Amino acid sequence: MTATITKAAYDLANDSFGRCCNSDGFFDSFYSILRASNPDIARMFARTDFTKQNELLRVGLDLMLMYDHDNDAANQIMAKIRMSHSRHRLDVKPEFYHNWIDSLMVACEKHDANFTSDIENAWREVLAKGIDYIKSGYNEGAGKSECLSYLHWLDPDLEAVARQWCGLSKSIRDELVAKVRAAN
Ligand code: HEM
Repeated sequence: MTATITKAAYDLANDSFGRCCNSDGFFDSFYSILRASNPDIARMFARTDFTKQNELLRVGLDLMLMYDHDNDAANQIMAKIRMSHSRHRLDVKPEFYHNWIDSLMVACEKHDANFTSDIENAWREVLAKGIDYIKSGYNEGAGKSECLSYLHWLDPDLEAVARQWCGLSKSIRDELVAKVRAAN
């Protein structure tokens, strides 16, 4: 735990997250609120499989809560999320992160029976650094070697991953998939 995030704030946010996860429909609520907040954001999720996405966000939030706590694995995966959200991939505009955190807070208020303004402040404090980190990657990444290492990490369904995350042409995808398979 670093000095920037107090243990009290971490505990408040983490306990609130536990209550939200135990409340049916928390992730569906969050994504409905986020999509309703901006038509451009709604379009980004037009083809999303939310069964999968909800689980990815649950893991993503766990990581955000762990981020910067000297947890190498969490920090490494955060680096992958930062890359996938850059303008070369998902193209998540920096201004959309306000919608993201505000929508998350509305969903928490609905699903955490103990929600208070102190808990909201704790969430915002604990997530601020991770959000800034992902947001600051907007103009970075997208080199082929980074794509390759991402594929490597994401195995096993390399072709689907190449299509989804790298946005590359079929010939380059095939080349990447062959290289990653050869490296394994
Ligand atoms: C810091 C906050 C955020 C976290 C922790 C987060 C987390 C994630 C994770 C874990 C995934 C799946 C794996 C990956 O992409 O690496 C994902 C996918 C995605 N995220 Fe985020 N995200 C954040 C903010 C945003 C924002 C602000 C937007 C847009 C408003 C956004 C849009 C998307 C989209 C469109 C996908 C792909 C959905 C699909 O597969 O169809 N994310 N996010």
